Amino acid sequence: MSSCDDSDDGPDMNQQAFDAADVVNGGRMYDKFWADETNFTDPADPGVNLATITDYGDFYRCKGCHGWDQLGNSASYIDRGPKTSRPSVASNNVHQFVATNSISDIFDAVKNVGGRDVDASLTSDGTNGQGDGHPDFSKILSDEQIWDLVKFLKAGAFDVTQLYTIQTSGTYPSGSRSFTHVGAGGDVSAGVTFYSDNCASCHGANGRDNGNGIIIQYNQDIGRSIGEFVREKPYELQHKAVYGNLGSSPEMLGVNSANIDDIKNMFLALSDTTAYPDL
Ligand code: HEC
Ligand code: HEC
Repeated sequence: MSSCDDSDDGPDMNQQAFDAADVVNGGRMYDKFWADETNFTDPADPGVNLATITDYGDFYRCKGCHGWDQLGNSASYIDRGPKTSRPSVASNNVHQFVATNSISDIFDAVKNVGGRDVDASLTSDGTNGQGDGHPDFSKILSDEQIWDLVKFLKAGAFDVTQLYTIQTSGTYPSGSRSFTHVGAGGDVSAGVTFYSDNCASCHGANGRDNGNGIIIQYNQDIGRSIGEFVREKPYELQHKAVYGNLGSSPEMLGVNSANIDDIKNMFLALSDTTAYPDL
């Protein structure tokens, strides 16, 4: 973009940028914006060294601070405490912010000009005191990429309360959570078909074994069958099923056209422990 690349250009230009944005690229960037499966190549500011980001990757991945569900530290990530290598989960609710703000305001919040700098000393001190803030993405991402993220947040990301019920107890980071009603209201046979059409070739008809050994190997790596994964981490699978599991070999690019009903149906099907058993 030339003259239309600033959010101050007004609502029409912003709406055009939003309409032209790539929701799938945005969903992948939300996971890990420098992955091979995104269109990211170099930081927007040539003065920023990419290694300063990738060496402390969890301090820059949207999902690392806001969760796969955009709900922050009071939902699925209530137990994900900070470590030397990762930040505290943010306390704000991005899902709520996105629902109640304009695309221009979301763009500005993500871009966050003047926000936490890309500086290894802020993320390598082992205390996470300074590295927890939302980074200054104006130095990292292009406006087009930020619009892709806005499109994902506004038009792609699911309302996970439609997919399962989470019960939490305690408070971050020592809280705990469990899931019930996974896929409630879905259509089991549509879910079986969706899984069989889009996942079974790699993960096996029952989510743990396709008979040629390949997928057993994958499942050993991931530590769970696909049924177990949906029962234990539905918040993560609702994202990966659509945008992919970045960096996989063979590539798992996700079912980019899947809507929330497809995922709900698949979740209901996969919650059957007889058809889709644990490892
Ligand atoms: C290191 C942690 C961290 C990372 C990484 C991060 N954020 Fe944030 N983000 C925050 C915090 C904390 C806030 C609350 C405001 C602040 O402190 O700047 C916030 C605020 C926001 C807001 C405004 C919502 C509100 O409630 O004010 C949006 C939208 C947002 N982030 C989206 C993203 C996206 C998209 C990415 C990835 C490109 C991302 N964030 C990466 C920590 C992070
Ligand atoms: C082209 C093959 C392929 C297809 C199709 C595929 N996957 Fe995968 N999937 C993989 C690979 C490879 C991995 C990574 C395994 C590893 O880490 O060793 C993976 C990983 C996963 C994981 C684990 C993620 C994690 O973070 O550990 C889940 C869950 C998953 N896939 C679910 C699905 C679902 C659901 C579908 C259908 C919507 C699907 N996959 C389609 C190949 C595929």
